[in-house]
Amino acid sequence: MATPPSRVDENVPNRPARTPFPPTGQSAAAVFSELFERKTADADWQRGRTFNLVYPTGRADVDSVLSEANNAYLFENALNPTRFPSLGTMQTEVLDMVSSLVNAPLSGGAGFSSGGTESILLSVLVSRERGRVERGITKGNIVFPSSAHPAFAKAAFYTGLEARATPLTPEFTADVAQLFERVDENTVLIVGSAYGFPHGVIDPIEELSSGALERGIPFHSDTCIGSFVLPFMERLGHAIPPFDFRLPGVTQMSCDIHKYGYVTKGASVIVYRDAAWLSHQIFDYDIWPPGRYRNASVAGARAASPVAASWALLTYLGEDGYTEIMRGLLETTRRFREGVTALPGLKILGASIGPLMSFTSERDDIFAIADVMDTRGWHLNRVHNPSGVQMMIAPIHGAHVDEFLADLAHAVADHGVARSTMVGYT
Ligand SMILES: Cc1ncc(COP(=O)(O)O)c(C=O)c1O
Repeated sequence: MATPPSRVDENVPNRPARTPFPPTGQSAAAVFSELFERKTADADWQRGRTFNLVYPTGRADVDSVLSEANNAYLFENALNPTRFPSLGTMQTEVLDMVSSLVNAPLSGGAGFSSGGTESILLSVLVSRERGRVERGITKGNIVFPSSAHPAFAKAAFYTGLEARATPLTPEFTADVAQLFERVDENTVLIVGSAYGFPHGVIDPIEELSSGALERGIPFHSDTCIGSFVLPFMERLGHAIPPFDFRLPGVTQMSCDIHKYGYVTKGASVIVYRDAAWLSHQIFDYDIWPPGRYRNASVAGARAASPVAASWALLTYLGEDGYTEIMRGLLETTRRFREGVTALPGLKILGASIGPLMSFTSERDDIFAIADVMDTRGWHLNRVHNPSGVQMMIAPIHGAHVDEFLADLAHAVADHGVARSTMVGYT
């Protein structure tokens, strides 16, 4: 049989050359030599150069637990736990452990997801469905402070809801009065962050959730960052404003294991106060010839290693292990804060509660300072209104505080004009 003609139209003007499908294979040695060569251009998180995206503990024992658990489940598929009962059991145990961490009632329910964005998407979907079934809402909206993670606006986009972002106070927390002004009879979900990505400040979760409860509206406490920070700070005796299911108005919480749970990517949990609401998250389809297709996450086939790695690390570290890591991390954060505020003009933005801080300069162009830090290999995040630099501090940074502060002192003393004001979150 003749080879069919190529479907590629070679005459598209201005199209960059396309990488061809490799006509022949190469040796593994050649492949890995190229792969590691390419990797040299990436951010050096192992030397503490990144301040989000990766949350390294800097501990070889933790890294080896993660590698071993990932490797043990590299090829399995978490789509069907009846084929891999060990995965089903580990997933259930992880959901229970995280639910306990955030004080969910025993009548609650939880689902595993690939990350904060998926947990939030599922929460918004469940809220839309509850609004439709329980309150007859057909054109719903969700209301969140403008500091909330873009995942809420994205979830509204996916689910056909209106996204209403509301102003912040001068301290960068949700302005409660202005937020409730945007709430109406079609509001299916109200949101607060405990704590938020831009400045690390905690919204007034108690006021927001009780206002939501009075109005009969679900309230999502976004603890994608805070769920593995605040409970351990509490255990260390820090006074933390209430943020979890101990508040009666909190109906759902997103808890990322792949941030301060230190697990490799692809691990988050969405927890609900009432297990019955999980049914709105489940897609159940029974006319397909191979049989009933029923699952509770966005993906069909899904990686098994995040479940195994989560179970392994939570079990390995336990409450004691996480608390000890938090003790060191808070000390590292204190050193960063003191070092930054000692430099001329630099000022921390807002009362950040945990290992996250944003700072500006009252004297210089902070983005020009950040550019100099970029050229010295530090990957700092930017914030706007007002302009600032944001850092999510991880345990690995403990070994690099002095080096960072020395470079920052140089950058404050000697910088030009800003080249970049934005770094990509794309
Ligand atoms: C407060 C908060 N919520 C949600 C998310 C989204 O999480 P992910 O990037 O895992 O999708 C983030 C990410 O940084 C976050 O900081």
